[in-house]
Amino acid sequence: MTPQVSVRYQQIGDAQRFFGILSNPKFIYFPVTVSSLEDEMAYLSITEEKRKSNFEHNFSILLHNIIVGGIGIKVNQHDTFIGEAGYFIDEQYHGRGIASRALDIISERAAGDMNIRRLELIIHPENTASIRVAEKNGFSREGLLQKRMRIEDTYHDALIFGKSLHHVTAGGAL
Ligand SMILES: CC(C)(COP(=O)(O)OP(=O)(O)OC[C@H]1O[C@@H](n2cnc3c(N)ncnc32)[C@H](O)[C@@H]1OP(=O)(O)O)[C@@H](O)C(=O)NCCC(=O)NCCS
Repeated sequence: MTPQVSVRYQQIGDAQRFFGILSNPKFIYFPVTVSSLEDEMAYLSITEEKRKSNFEHNFSILLHNIIVGGIGIKVNQHDTFIGEAGYFIDEQYHGRGIASRALDIISERAAGDMNIRRLELIIHPENTASIRVAEKNGFSREGLLQKRMRIEDTYHDALIFGKSLHHVTAGGAL
């Protein structure tokens, strides 16, 4: 059964919850640049500005109104029809289809308001759960990119998954 998942824009008040979720030492394939609650607050304090400049669109993922994770899209600043999505879910809520549902919701918003036609996922080859999320959402594995992911001070090759999105207007798909 599809879980009751919704998304809303991130807010500064989400900092503590995000910091708690992301401080999980098992999240080894998710490059996090935030190392303190203050950093997380600083990150969230510019989220609206980044959204308004069409740089990054970040959302909190809610399950029955409780924050269980985050998902965002970075817009390619040279080709704004391309976006890269990233996501994380509180470990306590893993395996319930929440990331897959959130990615589905966000893909629709990307195709609509954000005018994105190609959505990418960059995934560490050993991040089996995230690869599964990509596959379940109809992304195609397009190749292995060399040194595409930086985790602390090490550079890793990473898989690229892509999906073509169709902009839907009142007149139909474009
Ligand atoms: C990746 C992540 C977001 C997935 O969240 P989730 O809500 O558990 O995802 P879903 O429940 O939608 O799907 C996960 C799928 O992976 C599968 N899975 C999970 N761990 C697995 C493993 N070690 N081996 C094989 N499959 C695995 C689950 O069974 C499920 O597939 P299924 O529906 O066919 O059973 C979560 O693991 C996470 O937050 N990881 C840390 C952050 C991260 O790596 N983010 C992605 C960066 S690209």
